Amino acid sequence: PSPLKSLTKYLKLPGLISLGAGLPHPETFPFARLSVETKEHDVTGRPMPAATAQATTSSLPSDFVSDAPPTLNTALQYGVGRGLASVRKFFVEETRRLHLPRYANWDVVATCGNTDGFAKAVSLFCDPGDGLLVEEWCYPAALEAIKQVAASPCPVRMDDQGMVPESLRQAVAAWTGARPLRVIYLVPTGQNPTGACMSLERRQAIYDVARELDLIIIEDDPYYHLQYDGPSDAALLPSLLSMDTDGRVIRLESLSKILAPGMRLGWLVAAKPITDLVQYYNEITTQQPSGWSQAIAAHLLLDSWGQAGWQRHLASVRENYRSKRDSLQTICERELTGLCEWTLPSSGMFFWFRLNLPASLKSQPGHMQRVFDRCIKHGVLLVPGSQFLALPDSVALSPDEKADSAPYLRAGFSYETADKVEEAILRLRKAL
Ligand SMILES: Cc1ncc(COP(=O)(O)O)c(C=O)c1O
Repeated sequence: PSPLKSLTKYLKLPGLISLGAGLPHPETFPFARLSVETKEHDVTGRPMPAATAQATTSSLPSDFVSDAPPTLNTALQYGVGRGLASVRKFFVEETRRLHLPRYANWDVVATCGNTDGFAKAVSLFCDPGDGLLVEEWCYPAALEAIKQVAASPCPVRMDDQGMVPESLRQAVAAWTGARPLRVIYLVPTGQNPTGACMSLERRQAIYDVARELDLIIIEDDPYYHLQYDGPSDAALLPSLLSMDTDGRVIRLESLSKILAPGMRLGWLVAAKPITDLVQYYNEITTQQPSGWSQAIAAHLLLDSWGQAGWQRHLASVRENYRSKRDSLQTICERELTGLCEWTLPSSGMFFWFRLNLPASLKSQPGHMQRVFDRCIKHGVLLVPGSQFLALPDSVALSPDEKADSAPYLRAGFSYETADKVEEAILRLRKAL
């Protein structure tokens, strides 16, 4: 299971404020209403039950995408593992616009988001017993997906710009597994959980080490458009894919944080032989992302909004989260200075607090569980650092040892209202 989901039981506690999740705020969802008009007669011509027939009115006309339009029946039909032509057209255009790789035979394939794309990439590239290079603090669902294929995470040290190139080299040199390391998994922008963002120089340096050591990079970048310190799309940092000359980067793109996560729609960009394999994998697992979601995305992005509307939307989502980030920073500077340390995240949805715990507490085994319990008692939920700790299979720690070796809490600023965030931080201060 994804350990983050295990925290949902606390959400039932009356009055609890959660900064635990990385949930996009519904005000950023671009849909005000979705309606579907059912047929009035069934196949035999009999009238449908009134309740069904009156369900709603339609806002999905049957041919709702002007270029390679999927009709409603196409959207409802079995599709193809690469994704509907129209929505793929958007994915290709977006890749050209922002990430154009420096080799010719790249391609895109639709996924049900980056969780799906990563699980598939890992299954394709890792065998049981393999190691996979990851950031030392890692997205938990990715750690679980690695475990799922009986591979082991091989953690690489990070700093506030993410994975450290020299540590990557050292981790590879120290590896003693039967088969060589072949894959790096990283989140270059708004890293989950640390909020770290790789600078241009860091991206280039990691890519260069990957070339030197002949490693594949899985670039999971759902927060790419949530970069707060540049004025526009034109100022976004280049992706690792855009530096790729060899077809060694597999880039995972998601609409979750910028349209809506419930659409379960994203895409994977890589060299064509790899996208072919992902297509075949789709064909025997998910088949395709939901036809509804693809059709709605195609209608919205190609037909209704076009490029100008898309850019406006991205800018407004970015602005929404930038102001939430800034107000959390103001509150934290006022309330938490001295109690913990953090770096203002330049992207993504998370603050990563390193706790300054008193020595008397730190010497007691199980102290991080106690900190977590006190937070819950004070009515605030943050995610304990241990959930993100990437430990190789060879290291066995008890739950308390694991928790104590991760003196961090992750706070998400995307979801709660400003007054709740403020109250959450006041409660955190009391708990600490
Ligand atoms: C690093 C990272 N990858 C992937 C995901 C999930 O993305 P998707 O909704 O596209 O599966 C998240 C979301 O929390 C994330 O933080």
